[in-house]
Amino acid sequence: MSLNGRQTLTRYLIEERRRFPQASGELNGLILDISLAFKSLARIVSRGPLTDVEMPEAGAVNVQGEVQKPLDVLSNEIFVRMNEWSGHLGGMASEEMDEPCQIPPSYPRGKYLLVFDPLDGSSNIDVNVAVGSIFSILRAPPEVVKTGRDVVEADFLQPGAAQVAAGYAIYGPTTQFVLTVGNGVAVFTLDHDLGEFVLTRQNVQVPEDTQEFAINSSNSRFWEPPVKRYVDECLAGRTGPRGKDFNMRWIASMVAEAHRILMRGGVFMYPRDTKDPARSGRLRLLYEANPLGFVMEQAGGRASTGRQPVLGVKPSELHQRIGLVFGSKNEVERIERYHHEPVAMSVAPAPLFATRSLFRD
Ligand code: AHG
Ligand code: MN
Ligand code: MN
Repeated sequence: MSLNGRQTLTRYLIEERRRFPQASGELNGLILDISLAFKSLARIVSRGPLTDVEMPEAGAVNVQGEVQKPLDVLSNEIFVRMNEWSGHLGGMASEEMDEPCQIPPSYPRGKYLLVFDPLDGSSNIDVNVAVGSIFSILRAPPEVVKTGRDVVEADFLQPGAAQVAAGYAIYGPTTQFVLTVGNGVAVFTLDHDLGEFVLTRQNVQVPEDTQEFAINSSNSRFWEPPVKRYVDECLAGRTGPRGKDFNMRWIASMVAEAHRILMRGGVFMYPRDTKDPARSGRLRLLYEANPLGFVMEQAGGRASTGRQPVLGVKPSELHQRIGLVFGSKNEVERIERYHHEPVAMSVAPAPLFATRSLFRD
């Protein structure tokens, strides 16, 4: 297959870099290494769950008598190995590692930090539904760059607005790499014949309005009133306050939901709820909410905790969880408005609730 005039990821990155003559090319190098990890994972994921001889099931023992690793751990290792050697990174952090990951002493240390969820929606592997990988690139604090010291948790606790680049790969019927370097969102599709990611969409825009929402309704009894109000109004359809019918989707693979929303609009919610009072949400801020939030905002969408823009949240922990709402701008803004408004009469008709909301921030 020929390129037919289409751009490879490499060419796209080089042409982007030309806009910044002083840029060293390190960011490009880093993004290309990440893309190599994506290619490698696309191959592995396409072979299905870890059931064959090459990749036995989690906990199984291979012919050498070694206990095999689950796919989550294998993906994590691929990410680490593909990125630790380059000299572009001061350190890494991942969903699969409790502590920050140090660049081994045998390699130079660099000026960026890489944070990732190596396999998102991994339970979907068993049922052959799309999964993905998510990444976020931050600048290493100046002191890390200057001294080359080991990274610590605090180095990663930067708001999403500080991201230099972010994106994800989706391993679906096709493998696609969605990237933002803060100049819009571009989509690259893996051309298996060329072994290259090829630019297939540029300046992606999330439609501002939608009639499609995604939420795990089995949690509805734990939802806070603003979320319940929003969903009830969607479900009421044409005869309700929204005056239009809504459609619902839930893939249980955030990357897949995000990709659908990026392509055709919609709203995704995994809000803070009362299911587990110790957790302020299900999804993780640093390697799920922030990178997806950056992509959404760069595509003209919006990402929020329900209460404030996700990208403005100052993280307090590496594996911090957070309520997350993203997608079509007008819907996300509506959900935020519901969080800030006193509870509506339709939800709590008692005058006590209408005048003195028990549910305000
Ligand atoms: P991960 O596989 O990285 O742990 O993430 C799974 C996440 C996310 O992709 C998805 O939106 C959510 O979990 C699904 O949660 P429920 O099973 O509660 O629906
Ligand atoms: Mn995940
Ligand atoms: Mn994961």
